[in-house]
Amino acid sequence: MNDQAAAVPVISTHADPPRRAVVTGAAGFLGSHLVEALLSRGTEVVGLDDFVTGTPENLAHVAEHPGLRLVRCDITDYVHVPGEVDLVLHFASPASPVDYLKLPIETLKVGSIGTMHALGLAKDKGARLVLASTSEVYGDPQVHPQPEGYWGHVNPVGPRGVYDEAKRYAEALTTAYRTTHGVDTAIVRIFNTFGPRMRPYDGRAIPTFVRQALAGEPLTVAGDGLQTRSVCYVDDLVRGILLLASSGHPGPVNIGNPTELTVRQIAEDVIAATGSSSTLTFVGRPVDDPQVRRPDTRLAASELGWQPEVPWAQGLARTVDWFREAVVTAPVPDLAAGTSSAPR
Ligand SMILES: NC(=O)c1ccc[n+]([C@@H]2O[C@H](COP(=O)([O-])OP(=O)(O)OC[C@H]3O[C@@H](n4cnc5c(N)ncnc54)[C@H](O)[C@@H]3O)[C@@H](O)[C@H]2O)c1
Repeated sequence: MNDQAAAVPVISTHADPPRRAVVTGAAGFLGSHLVEALLSRGTEVVGLDDFVTGTPENLAHVAEHPGLRLVRCDITDYVHVPGEVDLVLHFASPASPVDYLKLPIETLKVGSIGTMHALGLAKDKGARLVLASTSEVYGDPQVHPQPEGYWGHVNPVGPRGVYDEAKRYAEALTTAYRTTHGVDTAIVRIFNTFGPRMRPYDGRAIPTFVRQALAGEPLTVAGDGLQTRSVCYVDDLVRGILLLASSGHPGPVNIGNPTELTVRQIAEDVIAATGSSSTLTFVGRPVDDPQVRRPDTRLAASELGWQPEVPWAQGLARTVDWFREAVVTAPVPDLAAGTSSAPR
């Protein structure tokens, strides 16, 4: 897998824990949890976000933290951060199908131009960069579970192509900056992650089901619901990413929970966890919806000593608690308008 061993020496001033980190996409679901974790370890954080799918409210609880600076900017324009930086976590990108289908060009731009700017920043600063890639690089996989050495099965001209190919390009660009410029890079392939601060209307299965169950509406299960997903609680993911950041490993490394659940099982568990009287209703499958998804996490275990620790039931209970508070006041965002009711 690491046949492209660095052609030039990899240079980094990376400290552990990092002294000062830049997080792109800081106001998003994962970005906000990463910012929180970094601040709690004493790392100063500069968060960059244009709030296209994220919101400063995700960081409201740390807004007054002296170590945090949140800057509104579109990283496809330019990225300029004065002062020293020793870690860049590049997480900016629409991530849910509802979002990237509404924002196809923006998704391709942030994966390409945005990634180039983030890599340029890491190069200038001598910082380590972690690219948030995705299990979507495996497409609708023909190998199961998916190890990092699998090259994937992606339809570049299907609706999901804008996201999948943006991330595949971002991986290639990251690798080229490592081998050509000696930038200390790492690629994490993130599998479906869930937890507090997901948006109730982001179109992903768990927040959709929790919202529907809490409202007493039928849960819209795509197809026959027998397609599988492997879902990782956000705290486990954040721990894996910070372990990768503090290692010297270039990746790609899968981080995700290998426990495989059918979408139908997820829906039934959500009904049980919310105590809802909702029923299931079956709707059409989205185009190119993967049939199976499960990470092979042996590399994360051997190289990073990582494995998921939060059981599905516990993560779901924490998520439901958060949604009970959040959904009461959540407006229906424009991005959700006119989208399919089949959650992914
Ligand atoms: N959540 C998951 O299960 C998952 C799975 C695989 C990969 N990922 C990757 O993790 C990252 C974060 O995902 P998320 O679930 O937190 O999504 P999210 O939509 O909640 O967060 C993305 C953030 O990026 C910001 N952003 C988008 N384009 C930008 C731009 N041009 N300039 C500045 N900011 C921009 C958004 O405003 C948002 O705050 C993404 O790169 C995504 O591809 C997430």
